[in-house]
Amino acid sequence: MNPIQAVRGMNDILPDEAERWLWFESEVQDWLAQYGYRNLRTPLVENTQLFRRAIGEATDIVEKEMYSWRDELNSEELTLRPEGTASCVRAAIEHSLLHDGPKRVWYAGPMYRHERPQKGRYRQFHQYGVEALGYPGPDVDAEHIVMCAALWRRLGLEGIRLELNNIGSAEERAKYRAELRKFLLKNVDRLDEDAKRRMQTNPLRTLDSKNPLVKEVVAAAPSLMEFLGEASLAHFDALKALLHSQKIEFKLNTRLVRGLDYYNLTVFEWVSDRLGAQGTVCGGGRYDGLFAQLGGKAAPATGFAMGNERLLALLDEAGSAGKPPAPHIYVVCRGEGAFAYGFGVAEALRKAGYRVVQHAGETSFKSQMSRANASGALCALIVGENEVKENKVSMKLLREEVPQMTLERDGVLLAVRNNVPLARRAG
Ligand code: HAM
Repeated sequence: MNPIQAVRGMNDILPDEAERWLWFESEVQDWLAQYGYRNLRTPLVENTQLFRRAIGEATDIVEKEMYSWRDELNSEELTLRPEGTASCVRAAIEHSLLHDGPKRVWYAGPMYRHERPQKGRYRQFHQYGVEALGYPGPDVDAEHIVMCAALWRRLGLEGIRLELNNIGSAEERAKYRAELRKFLLKNVDRLDEDAKRRMQTNPLRTLDSKNPLVKEVVAAAPSLMEFLGEASLAHFDALKALLHSQKIEFKLNTRLVRGLDYYNLTVFEWVSDRLGAQGTVCGGGRYDGLFAQLGGKAAPATGFAMGNERLLALLDEAGSAGKPPAPHIYVVCRGEGAFAYGFGVAEALRKAGYRVVQHAGETSFKSQMSRANASGALCALIVGENEVKENKVSMKLLREEVPQMTLERDGVLLAVRNNVPLARRAG
């Protein structure tokens, strides 16, 4: 019988990888707390209509990438979430989250899109999403971009470029869309089938076509910037001034339109050249119309999401950090009563904040010491029958040329404090 395998484009994350994920997640969550964002959790499954209304009918996601089905028991059309913003806004409306003022929230977890799998593009992938609900900006738009830059720095990631655009208001875009359609019609002979279809359903999407021939055509198309009114330009100017004040560099990309239709004014993407075709590690923007579009009281909002798989691939590529922290201490124990005694010592140190691995299983002292070395720990605490009898613990500093010491059991914490810095990171 053939073994059953995981679904194509949906990956297992095995322990070595998962440790890197845990490290990444703890860094990201720490960073989110620094900026005052609070966690919000929504179901993986939503009514299909939510995504149709939020993301837009004429988008790749809604047209061809959603995992949708009919739940016959309840006669409902359901969908595995392809992104988190729609759910977040749905939940905010449903629970009147903004009744006492704006909210900064984040969410994380798997998202599902039926795309063609390739490196950096999966059918189940993971995002961290960050949303500022009820804030008109542009201050909070700048906050999001500055936050991202701070995260790249914190993770040791270099060379992630910022592309920024302002796509104005729905009215401004409607005028532009009409002009763009006229332009595309004039050049229809040079468009591919996809662009021809998009010209009718969602002409702005032709602007980020990957086909070089279509790219050449749209390079000469009128620019959306020329259709923006005073208010849209003022919003953008204020954002740019804040970014300059924080020395954030960006490229104005007037062709940047994003693949979801809920955006207005600010849109941005962070892109790396080191990941091949799937170089966008993070994207987002303002979506002031979405609350009303989903039946709620109108509220301005803005946000972004980043792809964990792509950021972890970039961390791999950069060879930077990403390693889970090594234990501070490895407890070596052998002989009658040694494990229970060592257990107590280890627990006391864990309570004091140390990462402690205690050896389990009957193995010789010699091989336990080599495991202690390999673990990356700075210090081995050794418990044999003698130590148990005499209420002592032996201590060997693994990264220094000093003789082994024998300590009173009560003095272990102090000796560890004097020799093992708590703040150490990777092994
Ligand atoms: P998005 O651009 O569709 O935006 O996705 C955000 C990020 O998720 C991408 O930049 C990429 O890193 C990652 N990603 C998307 N699709 C895949 C895939 N198939 N495989 C691996 N990674 C992927 C959104 O989802 C919006 N909800 C962002 C947002 C939040 N806008 C406002 N608030």
